[in-house]
Amino acid sequence: MNFDTYILGRTDRETRRLILQHLVFGPLTRRFFQAAGIGAGMKVLDIGSGAGDVSILVAELVGLTGRVVGVDMNAEILETARARAETAGWSNVTFMAGDVRELELDDDFDAVVGRWILMHVPEPASLIRHLVTRLKPGGIVAFHENDFTYPPTTFPLTSFSQEANSWAVPPVDDAMRRWESEPRRPGPEPQMGTKLYKTYVEAGLPGPQLMLEAAIGGGPNWPGYELFEETLRSLLPALEKMGRIDPAKAQIDTLAARLRAAVVERHGVHMMPMMIGAWSRSTAT
Ligand SMILES: C[S@@+](CC[C@H](N)C(=O)[O-])C[C@H]1O[C@@H](n2cnc3c(N)ncnc32)[C@H](O)[C@@H]1O
Repeated sequence: MNFDTYILGRTDRETRRLILQHLVFGPLTRRFFQAAGIGAGMKVLDIGSGAGDVSILVAELVGLTGRVVGVDMNAEILETARARAETAGWSNVTFMAGDVRELELDDDFDAVVGRWILMHVPEPASLIRHLVTRLKPGGIVAFHENDFTYPPTTFPLTSFSQEANSWAVPPVDDAMRRWESEPRRPGPEPQMGTKLYKTYVEAGLPGPQLMLEAAIGGGPNWPGYELFEETLRSLLPALEKMGRIDPAKAQIDTLAARLRAAVVERHGVHMMPMMIGAWSRSTAT
């Protein structure tokens, strides 16, 4: 079965973008997993593990007596993940290549986690239902996903930042209207964060607890400007096809520099879209 909807590409540059993204969002994900109860000694499954950032973060939470298994359908990115885990000295972090729905996975995990993965799978509730069978009774299900209803933005808003935001995300009222539209559109789900509650319930789990944060920064050293440029670069072919961006006008190679200048000269701030975490426990006995 092939349900690869990963539109961000599979290049080295995309791998670097994932690492940059973790620089901005890692602290939020750590707080979320701690709130969800991920802790010492646990055996944790990380799905859609990418370049390994979440697996390594979880390793720091479960420690030497815990274990982490990362799964990704992109075998190449797992080479980067393995090298990074090894360099960090984590011998209890392993990675498996393949589609998470098709791999034979252990059935004694204490938790299954993932970040920016449910938005890329067409039937997230049925995936969670499947993953619950890989958990011990009472195991934790914890996913951290964006909701792009409110685009990345700057305070104060400038005409340049407003235009750049509009390339990244359609207008808010469109997104609000689309929330319940069925069937789901092809491609990634931009409102996965606010759909986590409904997805968990549809998967047969108790309504999850939720946590909302947004990454925000200012000054010349905030890595968010580069992250914005790199994300648009990865999305460029798809956005161009949708007629949402004219590459000649966007001048992608100078986007971060222009955004940084616009924010820094006003002592303003740059804010990322909402990041929502949901956690629940399997009720299976
Ligand atoms: C946006 S990346 C997120 C990576 C990582 N979780 C992080 O937070 O940095 C999503 C990853 O999920 C993987 N992926 C998407 N669908 C998958 C599936 N059905 N099975 C396994 N991996 C999948 C992609 O190959 C990609 O590496």
